Amino acid sequence: MADYQNIRTEIRGRVGIIRLDRPKSLNALCADLVRELGQALDAFEDDAAIGCMVLTGSERAFAAGADIKEMKDKTYQDVFLEDFITVGWEKVSRVRKPIIAAVAGFALGGGCEMAMMCDFIIAADNARFGQPEITLGTIPGAGGTQRLPRFIGKSKAMDLVLTGRMMDAAEAERCGLVSRVVPLAQLMDDAIATAEKIAGMSLPATMVAKEAVNRAFETTLDEGIRFERRTFHATFAFDDRAEGMAAFADKRKAIWKHR
Ligand code: CAA
Repeated sequence: MADYQNIRTEIRGRVGIIRLDRPKSLNALCADLVRELGQALDAFEDDAAIGCMVLTGSERAFAAGADIKEMKDKTYQDVFLEDFITVGWEKVSRVRKPIIAAVAGFALGGGCEMAMMCDFIIAADNARFGQPEITLGTIPGAGGTQRLPRFIGKSKAMDLVLTGRMMDAAEAERCGLVSRVVPLAQLMDDAIATAEKIAGMSLPATMVAKEAVNRAFETTLDEGIRFERRTFHATFAFDDRAEGMAAFADKRKAIWKHR
């Protein structure tokens, strides 16, 4: 395992766990952390023995946003030239294997945005979500104005982005930001069990399923359904598709080759 300073990684069976670990700043997403996160995502993505990832923080904070102290003196030239909030960050939304965000405590600004880049969010009952950038005189910069309305609709997204208020886990579940809320003490067990279940499926099947769902947010219904149909047809090239259907007919458990 690589020697990271701002994150910790762990492998449980076919699940790769990445824990954001800058407790003194509530996991504020500084450049070093995001760079390490990118490396960890690449490592799990390249590891054939990993079928699903979990991204999490501490019990107090998933992440309280981009690192305000690190960015406060940057100029326009700085952020433009370094393409600030792009390198590393976008990796979370680009990984092809399934990735679950397990969120406890604060998920604010870039923290909320990073959780939304994952495939779905499981929240602890103490989770608090928000886009407080407006209180800093700026706006969300890691997809908040685009992904939040897609999750929760315009009215509530505007409410959060324009007021900077936080919403609790119950409200986040009610409006569809999170797939489920669990007691804080059960968060990691629940997230890892869910990831194990996904990792227990055929890897290429989960990868194309993820890709197909994500197309829904990029295209028209007609084109999306065409993409889905052709991709469904393409799964007939997988060894695992033949095995899955044969195993059903033989009343036995499928043995995946992940091919
Ligand atoms: N950046 C840098 N440091 C941060 C931070 C951040 N986003 N959030 C918290 N910290 C630091 C605090 O400065 C504090 O450090 P010190 O002990 O050295 O003073 C430490 O973490 C603990 O925080 P608090 O003492 O403030 O803890 P609290 O429990 O009183 O409050 C909080 C918690 C409500 C989350 C508060 O820390 C807060 O409002 N944080 C900032 C949230 C925010 O505005 N996030 C958006 C950032 S901008 C962004 O993300 C842009 C984008 O879209 C990519």
